[in-house]
Amino acid sequence: MATSWRQRRTSALVLAISVVLAGLFFDSAEAKCYCMKDCAKRPNAITTACTSGICEYTCETGWSNCDNNWTNGCEKNTYSDVNACGQCGRQCIPYHVETVITTCVKGTCTYTCKAGLSDCNNWLNDGCESRLPYNDDLRFCGSCTTPCLMDLPNAVSKCTRGVCGYTCNPGWVNCDNNWANGCEKRTSCS
Ligand SMILES: *[C@@H]1O[C@H](CO)[C@@H](O)[C@H](O)[C@H]1NC(C)=O
Repeated sequence: MATSWRQRRTSALVLAISVVLAGLFFDSAEAKCYCMKDCAKRPNAITTACTSGICEYTCETGWSNCDNNWTNGCEKNTYSDVNACGQCGRQCIPYHVETVITTCVKGTCTYTCKAGLSDCNNWLNDGCESRLPYNDDLRFCGSCTTPCLMDLPNAVSKCTRGVCGYTCNPGWVNCDNNWANGCEKRTSCS
């Protein structure tokens, strides 16, 4: 039996309303895709699929979609952002900002010393504490690997502008010219 004009008109109306409602529904998210080329290019992102009308993306290497919003794509550079280093929200701990430079290098927090400074004691909490080579630190005198002799018998050690120096305590002499055993003789060498 042929459908009547009235029935066909009703079907068309129902279809039209459905299309409008569907349009409103999908508008609240984003335009419906039919295939991948319908998907808008998103910053620092690669389109991977159009699944059930929704565009799917993945981030380019070194980038992340930290705000979970694809409209602005993968907005954080997790290779270089010190506030999202290696992953979203991962802040690099800032050590001693007066002497240390904090950077994010390929997703790893990296610390370097400001010009002329070194972290000889490998302890970033006190920053890059050594101003080489003209420092006065017995542990790192002139360089990180040149400590002065310390706690010598009857002698005093001193680092002056990066050079170790030793002096005998009063009443003692260094007869063998070897500072390692300090000032080993009393009063005179004879
Ligand atoms: C997503 O990002 C766009 C562009 O920055 C913005 O207009 C929109 O409000 C964001 N959506 C949400 C849910 O935050």
